Amino acid sequence: RRIYIITPTYNRTEQKADLTRLAQTFYLIPNILWIIIEDAEKPTFRLKKLLDSFSLPIVHLNYLTPGYLRIKITSTNKFKPPRAMFQRNIALNWLRNNTKSTEDAIVYFADDDNTYDWRLFIEMRQIKNVGIWPVGISGRLAYERPICYYGRVHSWFRYVAIHREFPIDMAGFAIRLGLIHHYKYFHFNVSITSVGLLESQILSTMTTINDLECLADNATKIYVWHTKTNETYLVSNEILQSLNMVYNLNDEL
Ligand code: UGA
Ligand code: MN
Repeated sequence: RRIYIITPTYNRTEQKADLTRLAQTFYLIPNILWIIIEDAEKPTFRLKKLLDSFSLPIVHLNYLTPGYLRIKITSTNKFKPPRAMFQRNIALNWLRNNTKSTEDAIVYFADDDNTYDWRLFIEMRQIKNVGIWPVGISGRLAYERPICYYGRVHSWFRYVAIHREFPIDMAGFAIRLGLIHHYKYFHFNVSITSVGLLESQILSTMTTINDLECLADNATKIYVWHTKTNETYLVSNEILQSLNMVYNLNDEL
């Protein structure tokens, strides 16, 4: 069974490092197609070169998040807009247009800065419709997870945003490809109020809590962590110039 892995990504200092780590995990996983959607007006040569160097089966798409959702968090504005909704919608449409609804495959959303154990992908291949498992370092807990009995969700171990119908991160579930085709009009609601609700949007459309299939030993094993890469503040080019320094490995930036 093929696994379609959907990864939104955007240009930043840490991007190549994050994607390289991800690629090297995916070398361990047979039969995947990695759908990468760049948050950019056009696919960039910089990213294309990196992706070509991986020799993995990759589809490189793009969509630029519009300005009203590109709000930076500042001291006066604590508001964090939801991320990568458009990019994931582009990937869902790509799947609907480029795969058969009868193909027996799995769809997984894998953000570029998380950490994935290769065994997660073994678990995923057992999914009938929608599988769910714990996510480490998520929701201000060491892990968030469904509490399961005999493979079915009984309740949830979670702390933040109690109102979430499905309190689990995007990395905590995967869906049979046929459901993406069946719910052909589903798309993530591109609204500024959707933070933390994206997961519930797709899960409440395509399944119910009672139908979720608990994987990873009845949701007791952690095979994915919602790690975050620190944003590094680089010294400016002006300062470098004043020290008579200049980057000359421009390919590596
Ligand atoms: C958390 C969740 O894990 C995400 O699945 C969810 O989309 C996000 O919150 C949200 O709703 O805002 P978090 O770790 O806080 O994610 O965010 P990032 O890892 O910075 O971004 C999620 C994904 O979107 C990453 O793959 C990232 O490369 C991509 N992204 C981020 C963009 O494509 N464009 C951006 O401007 C920012
Ligand atoms: Mn992240």
